[in-house]
Amino acid sequence: PSTQTWSQRFESTLHPAIADFNASIHFDIQLIEYDLTGSQAHAEMLAKTGIISADEGAELVRGLEQIRQEYRQGNFTPGTDAEDVHFAVERRLTELVGDVGKKLHTARSRNDQVGTDTRLYLRDQIQQIRQQIRQFQEVLLSLASQHVRTLIPGYTHLQRAQPISLAHHLLAYFEMTQRDWQRLGEICQRVNISPLGSGALAGTTFPIDRHFAAERLNFGGVYANSLDGVSDRDFAIEFLCAASLIMVHLSRLSEEVILWASQEFSFVSLKDSCATGSSIMPQKKNPDVPELVRGKTGRVFGHLQAMLVLMKGLPLAYNKDLQEDKEALFDGVKTVKVCLEAMTILLSEGLEFQTARLTEAVNEDFSNATDVADYLAKKGVPFREAYGLVGKVVKTSLAANKLLKDLTLDEWKDLHPAFEADVYDAIAPEQVVSARNSYGGTGFEQVQKALEDAQKRVKEE
Ligand code: ARG
Repeated sequence: PSTQTWSQRFESTLHPAIADFNASIHFDIQLIEYDLTGSQAHAEMLAKTGIISADEGAELVRGLEQIRQEYRQGNFTPGTDAEDVHFAVERRLTELVGDVGKKLHTARSRNDQVGTDTRLYLRDQIQQIRQQIRQFQEVLLSLASQHVRTLIPGYTHLQRAQPISLAHHLLAYFEMTQRDWQRLGEICQRVNISPLGSGALAGTTFPIDRHFAAERLNFGGVYANSLDGVSDRDFAIEFLCAASLIMVHLSRLSEEVILWASQEFSFVSLKDSCATGSSIMPQKKNPDVPELVRGKTGRVFGHLQAMLVLMKGLPLAYNKDLQEDKEALFDGVKTVKVCLEAMTILLSEGLEFQTARLTEAVNEDFSNATDVADYLAKKGVPFREAYGLVGKVVKTSLAANKLLKDLTLDEWKDLHPAFEADVYDAIAPEQVVSARNSYGGTGFEQVQKALEDAQKRVKEE
């Protein structure tokens, strides 16, 4: 039940159920360290501008630091009667430092305060997620470096298309996560703007120095419009958008690992440290990790959607609806972090590529058919004509239960006089891969270069 008394306009306290309904302390307690830091900067600004005395400022900063220690030691656990973290801190501050604590909220509103806290929190989380992306990429690159010359079928439409280097496949995920890493860095510039000093909505009558407070908090700038400052949540939406894309990438990789681990593919085997069994089928070994990552992807998309819908009808400026931003953001952050961690572990020690099976796979199909057509085209046969001819060979070979490599030189020559004995080399999987030496292609030389380039880029700060 709430003991919160508002101004003397109110005669009685909130209905207990409504107090609970209104409260956000059970989740916004996560913002406490940012709230304390933000309040310390505000107190320093009040002292610096002479709105309060230097002694008062110092006393507020000290009291806030004491709350930080209490919290870290597990001795500050406000209940729902505090409504939210901001009230909880202010109340405790006044208990600790006396009446001067009541001066902290001068020239400030919870509206600019919560916006400040949320941005400080997200800025911090974005840095952590970027580091996690780096760790994930390191593992990806170490795996790629072991498999430059390992071949794997490449697919389009999930039909065997052309064989590729396994490292090339893995490096595709490096590129995706590299964009994720960059995107988060770009977004962070917009997260890192201070709304502090916007007041409730219209600014304040006190001679505050917004830039001073913003600099204390290492913000890159201040909101130019107070209404926008207290009611903008674009930064959270942008983050959830970037988080959704990270999840898309992790989910696609997860889907591949799940397929690869199936008996039908058998491209990877799962290690016991990252697989689970069935409660009834003793033979089962299940890819729970990538399945959960794929599943949790939906949660993050949901938070993005919820946030967009939350904002679309809000009149300026602050509305209590905005309190709903936090659980979406917190869970989005948490989900991305646990998924990055799990996938990093899965790649580093949870699976093993079945190279014998991969070799078998790239030798058992017609995925070298393009190379036969390219072979003829290089001998002057127009590509479209060559393509038609090879289609015919594939058809007759399929009917005869043969692969292209099984055709005799006579059979090749019957098809077209341009064929020579070197056709066998040209269609061997190693050669097929190695020959795709165009920039960005799967040729070993290109892949080795791409790997080295990625190893440089992963060191970027
Ligand atoms: N707990 C609130 C939130 O998260 C803090 C801001 C409340 N402001 C207000 N005017 N009721 O949004």
